[in-house]
Amino acid sequence: MSNPRIFQNLIGGTFLPSRSGQTFERRNPADTRDIVGVFQESNAEDVDVAVAAAKAAFPTWSQIPAPRRGEILLRAATILEARKERYSHDLTREMGKPLFEAGGDIVEAIGMAQYAGGEGRRMHGVTTPSEMPNKFQMSIRQPLGVVGLITPWNFPMAIASWKMLPALVAGNTVVIKPGEDAAVSTYNLVEALMEAGLPPGVVNIVTGYGPGAGQPLVEHPDVPLISFTGSTTTGRLVYELGARQIKRVSLEMGGKNPLIVMPDADMDLVMQGVVWAAFGTTGQRCTATSRLIVHKDVAEPLVARIIERAQHLRVGNGLHPATEMGPLVNEKQMQRVLGYIELGQQEGATLRCGGGRMSEGDLAHGWFVQPTVFTGVTPQMRIAREEIFGPVLSVIEVASLEEAIAVANDVAYGLSASIYTRDINAAYRAMLALQAGIVYINAPTIGAEIHLPFGGVKATGNGHREAGPTMLDVFSEWKSVYVDFSGSLQRAQIDNVG
Ligand code: UN1
Repeated sequence: MSNPRIFQNLIGGTFLPSRSGQTFERRNPADTRDIVGVFQESNAEDVDVAVAAAKAAFPTWSQIPAPRRGEILLRAATILEARKERYSHDLTREMGKPLFEAGGDIVEAIGMAQYAGGEGRRMHGVTTPSEMPNKFQMSIRQPLGVVGLITPWNFPMAIASWKMLPALVAGNTVVIKPGEDAAVSTYNLVEALMEAGLPPGVVNIVTGYGPGAGQPLVEHPDVPLISFTGSTTTGRLVYELGARQIKRVSLEMGGKNPLIVMPDADMDLVMQGVVWAAFGTTGQRCTATSRLIVHKDVAEPLVARIIERAQHLRVGNGLHPATEMGPLVNEKQMQRVLGYIELGQQEGATLRCGGGRMSEGDLAHGWFVQPTVFTGVTPQMRIAREEIFGPVLSVIEVASLEEAIAVANDVAYGLSASIYTRDINAAYRAMLALQAGIVYINAPTIGAEIHLPFGGVKATGNGHREAGPTMLDVFSEWKSVYVDFSGSLQRAQIDNVG
């Protein structure tokens, strides 16, 4: 094996080793003989230097007119488009999803660069008439300063772009700690931005683990905003630490997304949608379908078709063009998923397909688990309530739309939800009643586009929406401005003079 590529922290435009000299290695989860790279295992000292660099870059960056900042993003979009193939290859190699899905990850970043770049020419505020004559009032957006981004490995370029690009166009500078399993894509995104003209120090990359590098970023007094995507357990800690310093914390966490099937649904469409949403990205999407809530009258024939298709999915190294499903991201995740499969059997669910590790031939070098389907699942079982983040589908039978909605809502999470029906009244009732940030009608629970708000309710999020027209609300601060050009003291009605 040739010498692995060494990635250093990017701080103030310079690549630097960690202060401690510690590094960690990342291997391709489909073939652990392949070393993707060696990364810095950063600690609080490295975070300090990165925050200082971002702070130093802030006065100049925030003074650049927003349309000019947007132009850098638009140029980056063109660069990302030209590099799509190479960046997809890097992404598949580092986290395992098949090449065609990796391409989708890059496409989300391209779309976000175009959308956020365009925001540079909008950056809309508010103007309203005053209660007084010769008085003008408006509310404008301003950047917060240095924002800290903590991103996951499952959409390593897309989610980094959802956070970084709105932050930049709004005039903030950035310190990002990418997920330790997939940091190369963050380097690629930032490479495109720097080539597009992003000045040094505006984005800084610090790699490492949560406790060593993530926590000091969350606790840093010069970082007023933390945006985090990851597990609910870690998100809760981030929220608590941020609250102590009254920080703005934007959280995007777990899901247990339901897909409801009514008896009048188009079953071909359902079958394709379920297989894609349950096993795409090896089930490692926050938006993955993990509960199939199906009317009992149509359950068995539908399940038989899903199983038939699931058993024939081509599982393997995502770098092979024919692969439909890749590995789990690492051994720990594989063990966790296998643990849930074991648990499902103990809880009394019926294992109908899959259920084991795949290790024939070349698969022995990776973290592969079979697409798995459980039937006879009841809403109280843990496999029906906890996020598994793997290719495991739990089938729950119900007898009515009302029951389906009640079961769908009876979990801690609320990211995405879906209903398949031809009855427009049922579709609208479900759309309103489902407790989720994103609802799909006759489409599976995955595939949100970047120009609508993205996020969830309940234990999934804390009210922020990082895509779409709401993105700037996360990454900018409102300032209301009153200009009185009457030349006299005009007291507002609230002062009780009229
Ligand atoms: C995630 O899994 O965290 O809607 C994000 C989707 C993708 C993004 C998923 N656009 O499935």
